[in-house]
Amino acid sequence: MNETNRNKNPINWFPGHMAVTRRLIRESLADVDMVFELLDARIPQSSRNPEIAALLGNKPCVILLNKADLADPEQTKKWQSSLRTDTVRCVAIDSKNGSGIGDAVAAARELLKDKWDRLAEKGVCRPIRAMVVGIPNVGKSTLINRLAGTKKAKAENRPGVTKTKQWVKAGKDLELLDMPGILWPKFEDEEVGRNLAMTGAIRDEILDSVEIAVFLCEKLLSRYAASLRERYRLTDGDLSKEPYELFLRIGEKRGMLKRGAEIDEERCASMILDEFRSGAIGRITLEEA
Ligand code: G4P
Repeated sequence: MNETNRNKNPINWFPGHMAVTRRLIRESLADVDMVFELLDARIPQSSRNPEIAALLGNKPCVILLNKADLADPEQTKKWQSSLRTDTVRCVAIDSKNGSGIGDAVAAARELLKDKWDRLAEKGVCRPIRAMVVGIPNVGKSTLINRLAGTKKAKAENRPGVTKTKQWVKAGKDLELLDMPGILWPKFEDEEVGRNLAMTGAIRDEILDSVEIAVFLCEKLLSRYAASLRERYRLTDGDLSKEPYELFLRIGEKRGMLKRGAEIDEERCASMILDEFRSGAIGRITLEEA
């Protein structure tokens, strides 16, 4: 591994600041009954914006652990109970295939039941208005498209690209506020940066993929060694290696060699990262509840 790359800190690549998004969220909270906050079920902590809980205050919130199809179901259950509070419910979903979406809407209804009963007494009947928030790539567009039954264009996440706040109808019972602006993750923390990189939330071109793949091997060795063993047909001896040596061994087993029998580290890294991100290594959660 190249030393310059080894020292490259992925976290430095988050250029933005939260000021615009913070103001937009604050201003828009008055227009909604509740918030759907999307987190990545594989990294619930790292995919959470550090300011969001304070910004939302006591607004009813349903946390959606998205991409639950890729996460360890046992860990997801633990996260669901640990994130729940009086005003927060937590539901595991897979926006891509639709599982858990019904539970998410049911959780919203349950949280708002008292308010809805009061409105019904006054003869008011209207859809639930919900704001959708989450860091880039967590699956906001996929969720909104699924709820709304549409295939609208993906929202622009790039800084400086203006996009107006828009309401999206999702059936007759739900209206979603698709927020412009970028809700950044907690980019100062190195561990958070690595977790985001492993799951693909940070673009690979700006990272040292070998370094990230070696981190992934280290994480998998400590908590999902059996999955690693099975996927790459590894022996006990392989699994007792240091993470970088293990990474090279995986490359060797897959025949990823350059001329001179040297391991092609870049190819090996992208293979391991792709297989992890697609779920081929197994359902894995990188952060314990
Ligand atoms: P964003 O609006 O929050 O930025 O995220 P977006 O919906 O664009 O989703 C980012 C990527 O995550 C997409 O993959 C999307 O398909 C995938 N995704 C979203 N929800 C889920 C889920 O619950 N499970 C799984 N497995 N994947 C999910 P992509 O590769 O960028 O695009 P595509 O080729 O899948 O369309």
